[in-house]
Amino acid sequence: MTSQLEPPKSKPLVGKLIESKSISRLSFTDYRETVRRHYDGLAGALLETGSLLAFHRQFVPRLFGPKSLDLSRCERILDAGSGSGQFLRHIVRRAAPNAHISCFDLSLAMLQRSRKRLKSDRPRPVVADLTRLPYRDGVFDCVVLGWVIEHLPDPRAGLAEVCRVLRPGGKALIVATESTFPGAWVSRIWKCRTYERDELRAACQAVGLRWNRVFWWTPVHALFKLGGIQVEVAKGGNGSGAETLERVR
Ligand SMILES: C[S@@+](CC[C@H](N)C(=O)[O-])C[C@H]1O[C@@H](n2cnc3c(N)ncnc32)[C@H](O)[C@@H]1O
Repeated sequence: MTSQLEPPKSKPLVGKLIESKSISRLSFTDYRETVRRHYDGLAGALLETGSLLAFHRQFVPRLFGPKSLDLSRCERILDAGSGSGQFLRHIVRRAAPNAHISCFDLSLAMLQRSRKRLKSDRPRPVVADLTRLPYRDGVFDCVVLGWVIEHLPDPRAGLAEVCRVLRPGGKALIVATESTFPGAWVSRIWKCRTYERDELRAACQAVGLRWNRVFWWTPVHALFKLGGIQVEVAKGGNGSGAETLERVR
């Protein structure tokens, strides 16, 4: 993918000043290597603690269930950028007993940490890059991307791969850092970028992923438009981008 998406016009100036610049300053190859080392090292070791402090341990489970992302009928599920295993843990819990669960991450150390924590040999881990997935076309019913798409300068490179490995009608859950003041600080800590909702929706639409439902952690998050982007997308057509606003529980 060569062309870049239009830069978001409404990114707040203060956010632009705080946000990490490494993703835009380095070539993708160099940036990816920086990210891999970041997660192999201390930052990756502290990810679980960071999630605890950010209340993600309390919020993430709400994304899974019959009223949110229902995994009960999915035979093949992929956790993309599985990191510390924070999403994987719920996938293992919620997936049908005979479902195949795969996961990948750029960082081998992260895969090893999550395996230790999960104490389950159900997920099949591989070291892989989101922009070059080692899976056949249309094999997954569901893909989960938890805070990983912000590690790509152009999200379409990863989203197109997600769309390719999804079966027609398959769904994906995307959780991403938003271009807000808190989001800019998150970007600084994790050396990633942030997204405007419209920009991410346009990128999904460009590769054939339609926004189905938007989730908010709590009614307070919905009211103040906080907590980042949580969206369920489906493979099939470019859609109108029309979305149903829905709170998680
Ligand atoms: C913020 S962590 C989130 C991990 C996990 N989903 C969670 O919520 O705990 C981002 C993860 O994405 C991985 N990552 C970053 N860029 C990637 C890429 N291009 N391909 C695959 N994984 C990547 C990192 O190694 C890291 O483990």
